[in-house]
Amino acid sequence: MNIEIINKQSSDTLELIFVLNKHLEHENIKDSESLKKLNFKGSDDETALLIDVNRLYVGISDATEIDSFRTAAATAIRCAKKTNYQTLTVGCYDKKETLEVTSAMLEGLLLGAYEFTKHKSKNEETSLKTISLKTENYYQNTFNENELNEIVTQSTYINEAVTIARDLVNSTPEDITPIALAAKSQQLAKEVGLECEIYDQNFLVENNMNAFLAVSRASVNPPRLIHLKHLPKNPKKRVVLVGKGLTYDSGGLSLKPADSMVSMKMDKAGACAVLGIMVMIARLDLPIEVHGIMGAAENMIGGNAYKPDDVLVAKNGKTIEVRNTDAEGRLVLADCLVYACELEPDYLFDMATLTGACVVALGHYTTGIMGYNSRLKHNMVKAANESGELASTLQFNKYLKKLIKSNIADMSNIGSSRYGGAITAGMFLSEFVDEKYHDNWLHLDIAGPAYNDSAWGVNEAGGTGAGVRMISKFIQNLA
Ligand code: BES
Ligand code: ZN
Ligand code: ZN
Repeated sequence: MNIEIINKQSSDTLELIFVLNKHLEHENIKDSESLKKLNFKGSDDETALLIDVNRLYVGISDATEIDSFRTAAATAIRCAKKTNYQTLTVGCYDKKETLEVTSAMLEGLLLGAYEFTKHKSKNEETSLKTISLKTENYYQNTFNENELNEIVTQSTYINEAVTIARDLVNSTPEDITPIALAAKSQQLAKEVGLECEIYDQNFLVENNMNAFLAVSRASVNPPRLIHLKHLPKNPKKRVVLVGKGLTYDSGGLSLKPADSMVSMKMDKAGACAVLGIMVMIARLDLPIEVHGIMGAAENMIGGNAYKPDDVLVAKNGKTIEVRNTDAEGRLVLADCLVYACELEPDYLFDMATLTGACVVALGHYTTGIMGYNSRLKHNMVKAANESGELASTLQFNKYLKKLIKSNIADMSNIGSSRYGGAITAGMFLSEFVDEKYHDNWLHLDIAGPAYNDSAWGVNEAGGTGAGVRMISKFIQNLA
């Protein structure tokens, strides 16, 4: 989808108008009568397409929530894509309209237009190709074109980053193996000017990353550790991102039941989000040093599979009793976090589709944020909300910590109780973050929002790119 900034409206374009449900009778709503006849109430997710006048109305129940504009815009573009119009012109209703609202609106239009059609043999092309952004609104408030250009660029970058993550998450495990993920990272790095190092099993062996290696051992698709770098001159801060990149999670010998295995191609969503963010950081050329570390592996079964009862020695020398091979993400992340700490981060964030327990705790739409530093957690929730993502903190506590004790090793890879699983997983990870960096670190469990069976908000069914907007926003706030 292409965005242009215009002053005038032509007659063969579809004009999009946001209607606040309480303002249906407003003088600026030219089609009040028609809308009344259609029983259009202006509530969320409600659209009315009036082809005689080339206008598309979309409802908004709460205009004080900027995200309402984002999600309403996504609803609108889904409707517009079903028509034969080639251009959607964005008109705004509310006079309180600000650049922030316009920005959210553009994001919603772009993100809402997403589709993953690679495997559809009959691919119906949509006519809609262009979004025209008017420099004037109904109150003749004219916007500064430079400012508009800036938000167009910004929302285009956000959309690009989210699309990279969504496309990769939606891609099949046959298409996106660890090697393919590494190749894709290398290609994107070259395009946007990031440094990229790819490490294979030999590197993992040489660096004692035995937990990571164990998880990948039974797969015919060997693991890769991918390290992307954005290295500006005189950076203000150094941020290190770590992503879980399980290109498939069968559960290993602790095999998942058939129904739970479906959609486990999404277990690479953390790594894919890291890649999207790195591309965006490079495009914006932020004065922040950012490293993206992706632990890519496939968790499979086979004669050489790692087993429940094995004891693994991670890169930092800590020993882990394997009690369930389906708790594999934390093993890959353990070694990656030790590697990440060697970069001496000011901020260290890991993103992972780590636990079903986090989905039970927070539902399908919300990221679980864990860590030791309350202010950092607060700032990340704030960045999430500003960017249009949902996030909530889950508190560590010393009682849950006891649940990962092991009789024969330093710790077990699962908690001894089925309750509190998102937090015990987070506390397991904390064992691999050098204490020096405990206050700089956050763990983001994106198991809920990273992938969904049906469309919600600005997301189509499937991969959503969860984490991309929130972390990009956090990093932009540092710059
Ligand atoms: N990748 C899964 C977590 C997951 C589950 C993500 C559902 C998205 C949706 C992870 O590797 C896993 O299997 N975790 C186990 C941990 C358990 C064995 C302690 C889980 O959540 O059941
Ligand atoms: Zn698993
Ligand atoms: Zn997993």
